[in-house]
Amino acid sequence: MSTSYDLVIRGGTLVTHDGIGPGDVGVRDGRIVEVGQLRGADGGEVIDATGLHVLPGIIDTQVHFREPGNEHKEDLESGTRAAVMGGVTAVFEMPNTNPLTTTEDALNDKLARADGRAWSDYAFYVGATTDNAESLRELETLPGCCGIKIFMGSSTGSLLVPDDDSLRRVLESCRRRVAVHAEDEERLKARSHIAAEGAHPRAHPDWRDVETAFNATRRLISLAEELRRRVHVLHVTTADEAAYLAEHKDVASVEVTPQHLTLEAPDCYERLGAFAQMNPPIREAHHREGLWNAIAQGVVDVIGSDHAPHTREEKDQVYPNTPSGMPGVQTLLPLMLNHVSEGRLSLLRLTDLLCEGPNRLFGIVGKGRLAVGYDADVTLVDLAASREITDDWVAAKCGWTPFAGMTVTGWPVGTIIRGRSVMRDGQLMNEPSGQVMRFYEGAGP
Ligand code: DOR
Repeated sequence: MSTSYDLVIRGGTLVTHDGIGPGDVGVRDGRIVEVGQLRGADGGEVIDATGLHVLPGIIDTQVHFREPGNEHKEDLESGTRAAVMGGVTAVFEMPNTNPLTTTEDALNDKLARADGRAWSDYAFYVGATTDNAESLRELETLPGCCGIKIFMGSSTGSLLVPDDDSLRRVLESCRRRVAVHAEDEERLKARSHIAAEGAHPRAHPDWRDVETAFNATRRLISLAEELRRRVHVLHVTTADEAAYLAEHKDVASVEVTPQHLTLEAPDCYERLGAFAQMNPPIREAHHREGLWNAIAQGVVDVIGSDHAPHTREEKDQVYPNTPSGMPGVQTLLPLMLNHVSEGRLSLLRLTDLLCEGPNRLFGIVGKGRLAVGYDADVTLVDLAASREITDDWVAAKCGWTPFAGMTVTGWPVGTIIRGRSVMRDGQLMNEPSGQVMRFYEGAGP
């Protein structure tokens, strides 16, 4: 074992595969080379983590950063800046940009745009369409691609795979786990009168009701089982789907969002109007309890923020002209740490959902564990810190969060990516140096 380090994170409480306890982390060349009581001499930089918890870098597997096409809402620089401000070290970005990320050229364009501007590490989803279904096998293995994304129901942007024949073609084509927005397009169309001009945003979960989500999830799972494909059901919102998916874990992995675990209808629509509007919607408290139960039972695999920013002006229009989605990459960890503080889940379950889960599901090379040989991606948190979430703190371009005014206990105070500090105590450090992630099932090392 070598005795020199570029960086030592000293004196913190480590959250690792082996449990939670005191220890140090030794880093060389951007990788973890020792964990525990360090045997070697101190090298270059020392970070004093006394009083802090040292977590594996937080991975957000669902963000919409809007570039290219809607940079007035967000771009790859501002979105990844918001990420590291919230303790997130790596993101998977969604394909409903303009143009859509549905071709190799569009993927390469995003990779070129992120190079030198991204604060966090990154990878991009490629969107499935009825036109590119047969090319998805090649597209999903391109460098920088974290997988394929399907929209079964219309949401922001024009990506859509609405019918079972097209869905079958997509699933037949892919080999990697396919991420799916499960809302039933036919039912959305048939019920669109519920979201008539001038309706209150509280109508949103009536229009996009439980059956809209559950129908799509059932259709998806039945095809996945027939074709023996792995599917990742994004932002599950209903107790019904949570119970159903628990019986289909052989093909399905499950994501929930902090919004659906924290907010509830109708209260959020009364307080926030269209600022609480997202797809699939925030629902009543008993659905939220169903999602928490699925976390407790181990059914949920990952928490993704579904960071989907829109400007205040866009959200201030009259429903249903208001776009769906809310920012979340920066509040993901503070909200979830607060849930830990309130006893809804353990800190180990949190790192299971935000670090090891993404690694296990998507096969990310070298990320998701505080272990020797892995990238030195570390999130430092102060579990005792009590802070108010404010709009001023939001680095996302939209400048608002639905959680403004909420006081949380537990706060990210340091973001370290491949051994380099990019945030400490709310201040950005160094320059953007995010790199593209690699995948065991993607292009080779
Ligand atoms: O509310 C949402 N907003 N749901 C989605 O599926 C897309 C997202 C967006 O991109 O705005």
